[in-house]
Amino acid sequence: MDSKGKAIKQVKMVYFSGTGGTAKAADCFEKVFEAHGVAVAKCQLRRGQRPSEGKEDLLVVLYAVHACNAPEPVYEWISSLQKVKGMPAAVISVSGGGEIPPNTACRVSCIRMLEKKGYEVVYERMLVMPSNWIVPTVEPLAVRLLEVLPVKVEQAVGALLTGKRHRTKPVWIDRVFSWIGELEKSGGRMFGRKIKVNEACNGCGWCERSCPGGNIRLKDDRPVFGGECLLCLKCIYGCPNKALAPGTAKFIVVKSGYDLRDFEGRTSGVGPAEVESLAKGYLWKGVKDYLLDNDTQ
Ligand SMILES: Cc1cc2nc3c(=O)[nH]c(=O)nc-3n(C[C@H](O)[C@H](O)[C@H](O)COP(=O)(O)O)c2cc1C
Repeated sequence: MDSKGKAIKQVKMVYFSGTGGTAKAADCFEKVFEAHGVAVAKCQLRRGQRPSEGKEDLLVVLYAVHACNAPEPVYEWISSLQKVKGMPAAVISVSGGGEIPPNTACRVSCIRMLEKKGYEVVYERMLVMPSNWIVPTVEPLAVRLLEVLPVKVEQAVGALLTGKRHRTKPVWIDRVFSWIGELEKSGGRMFGRKIKVNEACNGCGWCERSCPGGNIRLKDDRPVFGGECLLCLKCIYGCPNKALAPGTAKFIVVKSGYDLRDFEGRTSGVGPAEVESLAKGYLWKGVKDYLLDNDTQ
């Protein structure tokens, strides 16, 4: 049931994922809701996606955190929603760093927009997946993050189905950082224009078909990048021929690549003491709290 005691039978779930972390979380939510007898209509967001009609009792929005914010297709989708009266909604952000400042502000704009459309946001939380930018998550922790995902999702679904509210209040300085993070969107457009194609490209068109920004077109069997890049890094990490590389801001891309299949289905064998020693320093505090269950959510 929701916070007003009405049973939740049908969920609409929309998600934005670049490199698969959020997609994996969304799959897990779908499975857990269905195991509780709740039907799920799931939709992956791309640029320009418009909402479809539905008879849901709950809206769940999931997205990869980009510079302490939601990616553009999430905002686009919410702004084209019809107004509703008090429909319950949940906002789940998926980051590499966890619920630490200024990440704590990454749901503020999204929640405000949903509330303007008449949604009642009853639940928000951060999930953590391996980091796909700048600093990679060390392997044992990455494996552990995938291992604990079903537990975290079960907790969230349990709270949603029993009408437990969970809202947070980020401090103003995090909101300022999140607002500054919006600048990443224009940086992203530039990043996309400069992506380089090497001789390994065989014109297979995977990048054109997969880009959630609709930013890639094949011309003479070579990808050409426009100015609509979302900086999700899907094309660079996912190219089947490893033919794409950044032409600028190279530090953003993890040198060893990023493929969640490297960590899937494995057992980490990592206990609390190893988590403490592997997740050292402020950068990894959110990951440590999440894995040790101290993230107060
Ligand atoms: C451009 C960009 C910006 C990011 N910004 C943040 C950030 O501000 N905080 C954070 O913790 N993780 C950040 N990340 C890491 C992702 O949120 C994280 O790896 C997430 O699991 C990726 O989800 P996906 O695989 O669904 O795309 C960023 C990743 C990218 C590509």
